[in-house]
Amino acid sequence: MHYTKYVYKLTPEAFYSFLADYGKGVEVLSEGESWVEFALYEPLEGLTPVQVLEVQVLPPERVFRPIKVKELVVLPHWLKPVVIRQGVAFGTGLHPSTRLCLELLQEFLQEGWSVLDVGTGTGILAIACKRLGAGRVVAIDTDPQAVQECRHNAQENCLQVECLLSRPELVEEKFDLLVANLELNIFREELPFLKRLFRKVGIFSGLYGEGELKEFTKLLGLKPAKIRGSQGWRALAVSL
Ligand SMILES: C[S@@+](CC[C@H](N)C(=O)[O-])C[C@H]1O[C@@H](n2cnc3c(N)ncnc32)[C@H](O)[C@@H]1O
Repeated sequence: MHYTKYVYKLTPEAFYSFLADYGKGVEVLSEGESWVEFALYEPLEGLTPVQVLEVQVLPPERVFRPIKVKELVVLPHWLKPVVIRQGVAFGTGLHPSTRLCLELLQEFLQEGWSVLDVGTGTGILAIACKRLGAGRVVAIDTDPQAVQECRHNAQENCLQVECLLSRPELVEEKFDLLVANLELNIFREELPFLKRLFRKVGIFSGLYGEGELKEFTKLLGLKPAKIRGSQGWRALAVSL
């Protein structure tokens, strides 16, 4: 964005008297015993600027970053927070397999889509989906402690996620998107059920190395739309 910047020079007395009347902030550029040089982004009536500059202002995304002051975090409005209370369930976002899912979700999930998160742990992916604008989000896990933590975290984020103690073979509906961060030995058993649970996009993570990825894609029998990797971990998305 471009702005016109007006630079003025006044005696200190004239400047401070102007400032008291002006009622808004100005940018003081330099100050001496007999002058104050200052700038503002509008012309002043009755005063001739010493300089008029065209300045480029960086977009807010380039300058406004999250700020942490002790326990307070101030976030720019365009960032989407996911608050997690770590208990015993998996899913703080520190593990690459979780982060790869978070990346793929941002590439594939569309506003209003229904989502099934299989093996939700803390609920991190389900909560992220809701934050990204998903419609109905159901999160399942076989561990009762994880279901409890998922419920708590969803509440903490003031988001509605249905957190259920369940496994893929017991789910009877289809969802627009399925996300599952599990392990190859679990996928070996669950993949036939998981494949029946999504109608648009499936995101699968928790595979370590090329060997596991190869075996998984063979079991899946679908061509990945995207494969992502980090620190040896692999995740993929398939589109139907
Ligand atoms: C690696 S953690 C993923 C947690 C979280 N979704 C994340 O991405 O950080 C896998 C979770 O799947 C759950 N799980 C294992 N086998 C499962 C199954 N057959 N059906 C549903 N959940 C399962 C575990 O209890 C665990 O909470």
